[in-house]
This record gives sequence, C-alpha cells and structure tokens, in this order.
Amino acid sequence: MTGLSDSFQRPINYLRISVTDRCNLRCIYCVSSGGVRLISHGEILTYEEIYTVAQAAAELGINKIRLTGGEPLIRSGLPKLIQMLAQIDAIDDISLTTNGTLLSRYAAELKSAGLRRVNVSLDTLKQDKFEFITRLGNNVGEVLEGIEVAKSVGLNPVKLNMVVMAGINDDELLDFAAKTIAEEWHVRFIEHMPFADEDTPALRFVSVSEMRRRLERLGELEPCLPSVGNGPAKYFRLPHAKGTIGFITPISEHFCFHCNRLRLTADGKLRPCLLADDEIDLKQPLRSGISSAGLKQLIEQAVANKPLRHHLAEGYVPKERPMTQVGG
Ligand code: 5AD
Repeated sequence: MTGLSDSFQRPINYLRISVTDRCNLRCIYCVSSGGVRLISHGEILTYEEIYTVAQAAAELGINKIRLTGGEPLIRSGLPKLIQMLAQIDAIDDISLTTNGTLLSRYAAELKSAGLRRVNVSLDTLKQDKFEFITRLGNNVGEVLEGIEVAKSVGLNPVKLNMVVMAGINDDELLDFAAKTIAEEWHVRFIEHMPFADEDTPALRFVSVSEMRRRLERLGELEPCLPSVGNGPAKYFRLPHAKGTIGFITPISEHFCFHCNRLRLTADGKLRPCLLADDEIDLKQPLRSGISSAGLKQLIEQAVANKPLRHHLAEGYVPKERPMTQVGG
C-alpha cells in the first residue's frame, strides 16, 4: 500500500466523519441566529454505508478516523458504528469530538466499543455564559462531569476545545489556563472562524498572539510535543503544569500546508477542505451499488481536489453548509 497523497504531495491519512447534522446545543459560533435547515433522515448515511466508505478509505491509506456531528452522541447506536469501524484492520485511531453533554452517560460504552479518545468543546466554565453561548439552558456541570467520566474510563487524553471570542469568553482565558496547572487538563484555544455566521463574527476575533500575551501573566509557556495525534495545534506547558495548552490558528497562521484530512458529511459528500464548498457525492453511488474500486476512485478524486489552502483571511467564507453539517 502506497498511501494517499494530494496534488501538493500532502499525505492524507485522516478521515473525519460527521454522523449527524443535528445538535442539542445552538452555539453562537456554529449555528447562525436564523437556525439551520436540517437534513432529512433518509438522506443521512446508514452505519453500513459509513462503514463501506471507511473500509475503502482504509484500503487507500486512511488510518485515523474522528467522528463528529452536529453532536455525534445524539445519533442512536453510535457505539455500534465504533465497533464496526474498530474492526477495520488499518484503522488504528478512532476518536470523537463532542459537546460533552451526553458524555457521562455514554463514555464507558464508547470506550468498550473501541473509541480511543475524545475532544470536548468547552467554551466557558460559567453557567450564565454557557447558556448565552449555547443559546440553551443546558448545564455546564453536565459537560464537566462528562469530561471526568471520560478520563476515568480511559478515553485519554481528553482535549478541551475553547473557541475564544472577544467580549464573550476571552475573560476566561486565564481561568482555563490555570486549570492546566492544577489538573491534567489539555486545553486548546482556537481562533474564531467566520463560518456561515452573519452575527458580526469579525468583532469576535482574538488572535493567538494576543492570547499568548495575556497568558504570560501565568508564567512562561514552554513548548512541548502533543501527547497524541498530529493535528494543527502547537502545544505548551506552564511551569510545573500537569496539563498542556494548545493554540490553533486557522486565521493568523493557517496550517493548510500540513493538512492531512478529508471530511465525510452526514449526507454522504466527501469534502476535501473544511473551508471550501467543493464536494464529491458518495451517497448516490453507494445507493446505486457502486463497486469498491469505483468508490476508491471517488475518494482519490476528492483527495486530488484538495485545494492548496483556505482563503478566509481574504474574505472567502464557505456558503453552502453551516459548521453543524461539516463537524469542524
Ligand atoms: N471557529 C472556530 N472553531 C470552531 N469550531 C466550531 N465552529 C468554530 C468556529 N466558528 C470548533 C469547536 C469544536 C470543533 C468541532 O470545531 O471548537 O470543538
């Protein structure tokens, strides 16, 4: 097996699979205030169809899978899908990105199905702000409990994603960073991307260099290696800290030249780039009985179509789908 690489010689070994576009939260950076059009159930790939795509992708060189949404734990029977994917020989890392609200309920089952680790979106530690950001009355305590349960069943490392937004949660940067000192928290601060969101996103932007400037008050950030994975974050540790701080800079310093990803949407489109609308349909071919060789050709086509880089900084924002349908 030679592996997949795109037309810019980037090795592609990572498939992110959105299993549903539905979510039990309505986060302001993800869902626009006008709401979103939901994909009907018949349009969503079945677990068997997802497995077929993953199997073909694995035969081409994909060895890492992440399940995303919407909120993936909303879809019933998710552990069954994980069990199916875990049986694919070449897949050696299955992870999940979740909002954490249902994690304490499912963590043990997910772990025994073959899930290796989870990333949890957590943008605030405060209940009133949690309600504001998620636009719903859920309890931030549920998410914090989910994180602890995930750690205790061994879904490690649990990484926490915080989208830093000026005037909304940037006053909590130091609180999150301080958590990494006392506890084994792995926090990643993410620059806000304007993504299908008309609510003045530019006003929310805080650059990573500004975040770092503010964090200096807690001590020097020592560079360190990621404990697992090879994603876009750059990692650091505060003096004597148990956990780590990662920075993700989609805007101020894009990391497209190291992109190793393909995305599969819940309705069966392969998306070569998070931040470009171009897609290749797999659902119709799957439902018309395409051969494994044919499916592999479509996957190779999507890889060949990967653009060199995104153009958010030049004002190009993908329009066809909201973040809830692509899964971050
Ligand atoms: N800007 C930056 N990050 C985002 N995410 C979702 N929407 C945005 C956005 N507009 C991130 C969240 C989530 C992951 C799936 O994607 O942190 O954890």
